[in-house]
Amino acid sequence: MDCMELLAQIPDGYVSMILTDPPYGISYRNNFTKRKHRVLAGDEGIDYERFARESYRILKEDSHAYFFTRFDCYPYHYGCLRRAGFFIKNCMVVEKGTVGGIGDLEGSYAGNAEWVIFCQKGRRPFNHTTLLENRKKEGTVCCAGRKPGKKYKTRFNACWFGPEYPKATYNSVWQKQHGIYHPTIKNVEFLSWLIQISSQPGELIFDGFMGSGSTAAAAALTGRRYLGAEIDRGYFAIAEKRAGEAVSVYGG
Ligand SMILES: C[S@@+](CC[C@H](N)C(=O)[O-])C[C@H]1O[C@@H](n2cnc3c(N)ncnc32)[C@H](O)[C@@H]1O
Repeated sequence: MDCMELLAQIPDGYVSMILTDPPYGISYRNNFTKRKHRVLAGDEGIDYERFARESYRILKEDSHAYFFTRFDCYPYHYGCLRRAGFFIKNCMVVEKGTVGGIGDLEGSYAGNAEWVIFCQKGRRPFNHTTLLENRKKEGTVCCAGRKPGKKYKTRFNACWFGPEYPKATYNSVWQKQHGIYHPTIKNVEFLSWLIQISSQPGELIFDGFMGSGSTAAAAALTGRRYLGAEIDRGYFAIAEKRAGEAVSVYGG
């Protein structure tokens, strides 16, 4: 169904975390791959101002929201989210699993990162996870008078690059191997890290633009509940299947 129709039915403060990847109002058709993706529904854009207001309304007090964006949409998305009431804490920049092959190949830098606006409604500290070990050994005191270091990181960088972090997207080889095709598919492991940092098991995660169901799969994998919408029946079918199989496919 249409995300805006679903949003209108959701009571205030109903969801515990928003992790969503809305359409930006641009065409994603990539002419450089052998298998051409269909032009996405919503390519003409959504009413982002309204979407931001509704997202704020449905999110519980003291909770986190993540909105995928792009450098040229960022100022507009930032303004809408701020006007909706969100406290914008960071723009995360996360390395893609593959470098995009579209645009001016000879006169622009390759887009090798995803941008994600991280917002809070009220204030919620990050969970202490076991996702990433600190480089220094546990108990190391780096300066006199400071507390001994912990085994796992409790504060993450806003830029996720390099081998210690999961990539934001898959490459075309992964899509071919798994038979899952979507032009803007995101990496389930990456989403599952954000979910583990920002929510508790059993809590409800919202993504109004499911696509191939990466957020739904990440929620299932981490023992969270999920609520979402996808306007394209074909992608919705992929998403349903992927969420159902998440634990067996990604849980290993
Ligand atoms: C950027 S993609 C999301 C991709 C997803 N994160 C994934 O990993 O597959 C946005 C999705 O929103 C869908 N869409 C566009 N407009 C919509 C609307 N008004 N309501 C629900 N879904 C919509 C598109 O069909 C597309 O699959």
